[in-house]
Amino acid sequence: MTIESQNDIDGLKEIGKIVALTIMEMKQHARIGMTTKELDEIGGRFLRKHGAMSAPKLTYNFPGSTCISINKEVAHGIPGNRKIQPGDLINIDVSAELNGYFADTGHSFQMPPYNQSLTRLCQYTHKTMMKVISSLKHGVKVNEIGRIIQMEAQKGGYQVIENLGSHGIGKSLHESPADILPIYNKHDKRVLKEGMVITIEPFLSTGADYVVEQPDGWTLCVPDNSLAAQHEHTIIITKDQPIIVTVA
Ligand code: CO
Ligand code: CO
Repeated sequence: MTIESQNDIDGLKEIGKIVALTIMEMKQHARIGMTTKELDEIGGRFLRKHGAMSAPKLTYNFPGSTCISINKEVAHGIPGNRKIQPGDLINIDVSAELNGYFADTGHSFQMPPYNQSLTRLCQYTHKTMMKVISSLKHGVKVNEIGRIIQMEAQKGGYQVIENLGSHGIGKSLHESPADILPIYNKHDKRVLKEGMVITIEPFLSTGADYVVEQPDGWTLCVPDNSLAAQHEHTIIITKDQPIIVTVA
């Protein structure tokens, strides 16, 4: 969507704060031995308590309130009987709707015992997301997003998951501009405009550069034993620094 009034900004910030708090609540309560279904229910309850609706459930009939992806799973993991194990790399992705506004946020973290290379992967992916966000404003080309992600990944010694991109959002979960690639696409002539609402969500990995859909029709996994991390914010493009709406 494109922002048309202060009401639009306030509406996005309201749901943005709720999804950010939902991830914090889930991360805080994640325990070894807990199933991903139990963790999802903590998020689902939190969303309901704040009057918000799970966006993947509402939009795609996703079988869960949030997406929880562990280790080889990179995105769209279905909450279920899988038990969280020591050292697991966990990604929680929460998107939700309130009063017609949608926000989307994601966060990768590790369960103890911590492993230095995974800690670095998570931190580096977060840093990459923030680097992209701080580089965007009205008039910047959309393909800058992919160019920066690719450049930062290379600097850090990581691969980019190329078939997972960022997207427009606001009045629905996925909207125009679609297919914001995480790698440089010289043919993309689109330009960011003041008021545009998009996500920024780089996926960096220790080896793989794509993910494969599993037979369950949802879960996206790396094809090998590499590990991938994602961080995601929903932002509003302005003439200056973007407004990050998915903050607590
Ligand atoms: Co997301
Ligand atoms: Co997203």
